[in-house]
Amino acid sequence: MQIKGDKIILSAITSSDKDYFYTIATKSYGAKFWYDDIKREKRSKIAFFNDWTEGYFDPKKPKEGQCFWIMVQGKKIGVIAYNKIDEHNNAEIDIIIADEEDMNKGYGTDAIKTLCEFLLKKLKVNKAWIEARMNNPRAIKAYQKAGFKKEKILEKKDFFQGEFVDCIRLEMH
Ligand SMILES: CC(C)(COP(=O)(O)OP(=O)(O)OC[C@H]1O[C@@H](n2cnc3c(N)ncnc32)[C@H](O)[C@@H]1OP(=O)(O)O)[C@@H](O)C(=O)NCCC(=O)NCCS
Repeated sequence: MQIKGDKIILSAITSSDKDYFYTIATKSYGAKFWYDDIKREKRSKIAFFNDWTEGYFDPKKPKEGQCFWIMVQGKKIGVIAYNKIDEHNNAEIDIIIADEEDMNKGYGTDAIKTLCEFLLKKLKVNKAWIEARMNNPRAIKAYQKAGFKKEKILEKKDFFQGEFVDCIRLEMH
């Protein structure tokens, strides 16, 4: 399954094609902003895919969540995903672009916008939401440019690089 945006194409990741996601999530430049270093370095492939369960890689079960490659001119530049749609019909989203050279070119904003349009219009999800660390201004800006609005600040919500840091919850209806 593919969803076309203005600058990117989202292409559903299937089970047979998911290993590169582990590489991006653990070894790329973007991974430093995504997971805490200690968690990331210790994360085996088995542990990683215990969290990112099969539902994320089965486009036939859209309510279980789904991971997509973010494609630019045929190249997989990153991954965007939504989690299992919850009992309130809400979905959390998450995104990572692998290389620094592919950042700050509007690809992330377009991927977020494209996925959220699919969730809200096609899957009739009530709202999409994310929690970003306050020390990740590029991510917050991209979410806001895509149409997310601040819901609240979550003080000392996440443990990152040796300290507890504030997070922001953003939502799109
Ligand atoms: C966060 C991420 C998805 C954003 O995608 P992107 O393609 O780089 O972002 P965009 O180019 O669409 O938008 C980024 C915006 O932030 C701005 N920006 C970049 N660094 C910034 C900083 N330090 N402070 C404030 N704004 C910043 C850019 O200038 C751009 O705004 P503009 O278009 O008005 O100039 C991508 O950078 C990424 O994957 N980062 C690593 C993983 C990560 O942080 N994931 C999110 C976890 S919540």
